[in-house]
Amino acid sequence: MKTVISTDRDAAVELLRKGELVALPTETVYGLAANALESIAVAKIFETKERPRFDPLIVHLPNREWLERISDVPEKHRQLIGRLADRFWPGPFTMVLPKREIVPDIVTAGLDTVAVRLSAHPLFAEIIKKFDGPIAAPSANRFGRISPTTAQHVLNELDGRIPLIVDAGPTEYGIESTIVAVQDGKIAILRRGPITHEQLSEFADVVSVTGTARISAPGQLPSHYAPTTPLRLIDNAEAFPRQENQRVGLIAWSSSYRNSQVFAAVRNLSDNRDLREAAANLFRCLRELDALSLDLIVAERIPSHGLGAAIMDRLERASHQ
Ligand code: TXA
Ligand code: MG
Repeated sequence: MKTVISTDRDAAVELLRKGELVALPTETVYGLAANALESIAVAKIFETKERPRFDPLIVHLPNREWLERISDVPEKHRQLIGRLADRFWPGPFTMVLPKREIVPDIVTAGLDTVAVRLSAHPLFAEIIKKFDGPIAAPSANRFGRISPTTAQHVLNELDGRIPLIVDAGPTEYGIESTIVAVQDGKIAILRRGPITHEQLSEFADVVSVTGTARISAPGQLPSHYAPTTPLRLIDNAEAFPRQENQRVGLIAWSSSYRNSQVFAAVRNLSDNRDLREAAANLFRCLRELDALSLDLIVAERIPSHGLGAAIMDRLERASHQ
């Protein structure tokens, strides 16, 4: 199959209607989209990504009205869920809610809950509005690998496997949406992301359940977002003891290396130590260093407050053997 990169929204809508896959930009990362209500279309996502069937997908909604059609919002949490949706939708925010019959089991991997999100990306919004139905879309990478933040990244991952990648340049946030569930009046963070613990705690008590074995959120598998080059986390690049003949790449935070005797290649996440900029650059930097056939990539730990917690989460999973 020939994979085309373009900005052709009508072609994207047409392919979705025919039950085909298209890669679409969102404000977080590029997604691999299919008609969420058609099992066979959704099955193609799993095949194309080589994603295990036990890993459920996020359903993207055309608008708020679809929330009640897709999920059975629990009465006792209706108010809190409504307030969260008012505040964070459209945006990089996903809620796990009880699912309705209309959602095929393949989408939720047999769970009785469904993850829903409303994207703010103008191109995604335009396409889903024209399509006029819910779209299942995981990140457009092969399973376990680094999420794509440009159309070229998607091509590197899925060339020949999908007909169309809709290009809207690099994504704004660069890391995947925050995923929460509401449990006993509390907000449980299932995956850290652009909407932070601090922001959520204005609405209710927040508990972090990332990393627990019980949750079937394989974005939460200890090893994920992995480059093929080994990755190790360090505190400070200035103190890194390189071995003789070892080619090491650095993802820098505290130090602003331009060129260096110690490192074969360096990427700074943010020259101004801006966490938003660092998040937006993270996956690109990982990919670029991963392409250089290095022996090792080291990444400096970053402050784990606010958005930093989500970035550290990605780095820790990427460095897990
Ligand atoms: O920003 C994003 O969320 C991107 C863009 C494309 O929307 N999508 C994304 O999808 O990151 P994906 O499939 O790569 O990650 C979705 C995560 C997975 O870890 C999955 O296990 C979890 O959401 N998930 C989906 N449905 C769930 C459910 N019912 N309960 C718990 N976790 C769920
Ligand atoms: Mg993913």
